[in-house]
Amino acid sequence: MSSTPLPLVPQPNRAERLDQPDFVLSAETVINASGAFTATAEFLAERLATCTNWNLPFNAPTAKSRIEFKESPALPPEGYGLNVTTDVITLSASTAAGAFHGMQTLLQLFPPAVYDCQPRPDLPWTAPCVVIEDAPRFGWRGVMVDSSRYFQPVAALKKFIDVLSQHKINVFHWHIVDDQGWRLEIKKYPKLTAIGSKRTGSPRGHGANNLGHDNKPIEGYYTQDEVRDLVAYAAARHVNILPEIEMPGHAQAAIAAYPEYGLLAEAKPVSCNWGIHDTLFNVKPETFAFLEDVLTEVVTLFHFTYLHIGGDEAIKPQWEKDEAVQAHIKEHGLKDEHELQSWFIRQAETILKKHGRKLVGWDEILEGGLAPSATVMSWRGLEGAIESAKHGNDAIMCPNPFVYFDHYQSETLSTEPLGIGGNSPLAKVHGYEPIPAELSAEQAKHIIGVQGQLWTEYIPTPSRLEFMAFPRVCALAEIAWCPAERPDFAHFLTRLKTHLRRLDVQDVRYRAPLEYIQA
Ligand code: ACM
Repeated sequence: MSSTPLPLVPQPNRAERLDQPDFVLSAETVINASGAFTATAEFLAERLATCTNWNLPFNAPTAKSRIEFKESPALPPEGYGLNVTTDVITLSASTAAGAFHGMQTLLQLFPPAVYDCQPRPDLPWTAPCVVIEDAPRFGWRGVMVDSSRYFQPVAALKKFIDVLSQHKINVFHWHIVDDQGWRLEIKKYPKLTAIGSKRTGSPRGHGANNLGHDNKPIEGYYTQDEVRDLVAYAAARHVNILPEIEMPGHAQAAIAAYPEYGLLAEAKPVSCNWGIHDTLFNVKPETFAFLEDVLTEVVTLFHFTYLHIGGDEAIKPQWEKDEAVQAHIKEHGLKDEHELQSWFIRQAETILKKHGRKLVGWDEILEGGLAPSATVMSWRGLEGAIESAKHGNDAIMCPNPFVYFDHYQSETLSTEPLGIGGNSPLAKVHGYEPIPAELSAEQAKHIIGVQGQLWTEYIPTPSRLEFMAFPRVCALAEIAWCPAERPDFAHFLTRLKTHLRRLDVQDVRYRAPLEYIQA
């Protein structure tokens, strides 16, 4: 028996090799499954048919070579047990999600070609005999993709979500509207996409080396049919899609389309610049009616219990200068523009509650008072999460720089493609501990998960998105899934070598870890 670790990512809680001859998959191997596990069994059968050309038979309980799905109500939600013996593989779970995660681990026991899109019946389709017991540390294991700054085709997002699900990531946070583009079809407000999805160019270069604009039009949006299809695709992989509809700031594309919901006599166009913008929604009843209409369409498209309302970087000069806004502040007994932002977010919370949805916002929603049921994404550091947890609100750890995957992957900028800044190399991501040391055990229960961010100002293509995401998402998966006392970075790097072959087979354009190149 080999003493090298099984090349599994994320590392299971317990994985023990058995000293028995490998399981050998063949065209005669039977899959046995029923009830809640049927969909996962069919998913497995389809994957194996694609890479081997064998359409494995179903439901022959006494076959010699078989893969059995078994209901084990005592297992934790999303947890699973996987027992591979020479003739029989048993995958136990209490939920469909647990069975799916276990199935992903099983795929990793086969050769990396298990992810191929071409049949390879000639390969030795063996899996080592093991006993695995596994369950996630956090219920929220997320990755955010910004489709506003640059638009990714649906096919690219499907590929991305498929690979996320292989890492047991279960939330795809979709940043779908911002100053630079509104990319979600809203039937009642067609100008949001007719006008709001189009800009005339993007910055070239960056910071002190900003070389003006490229004058290349960027446009694109997702139709409601495409969104429904993507949501179903993700759901089949036990990934929830969290839509983000930004307010009160990052609203310039929306207000370019519907200036009546902004504060200027002449609205600014959809932005061709990055950075923080001063365009805010006004606080008139018509604007909240508009936001309610938009959110009402959004909840018909997305089924996740949570909905993100942004809330970040809403600088207030337009509110400070506007007489009607100032009168509103007085009339509602608010202290200042921060309390007005808090009031604004509470209106959104009321709308979401009507639809049975829970509000998520960036940590600025703490300023001026936190909405009672809000979940906070702590991005500017740990403080937002610490304050929320102490206050009794849930929080998700998204802190820059640890899990900002738009940041550089090394300090040697001459060898990096142009990025937004920062530095979050693989080791730093893998070493990140999401529970802030300041929290008591009771408060720490409010830290419901961890999430990586892919802002796309400097990520113009799907292949660059993959380059920035992987293998940092592989490290994130370990932080999110494994217990706090997880294997160290060296152990991860050993397993990652084989794991990268899985990404190769799928044409995922990951970044080769410097640790391998320099070794
Ligand atoms: C953020 O990075 N503006 C949440």
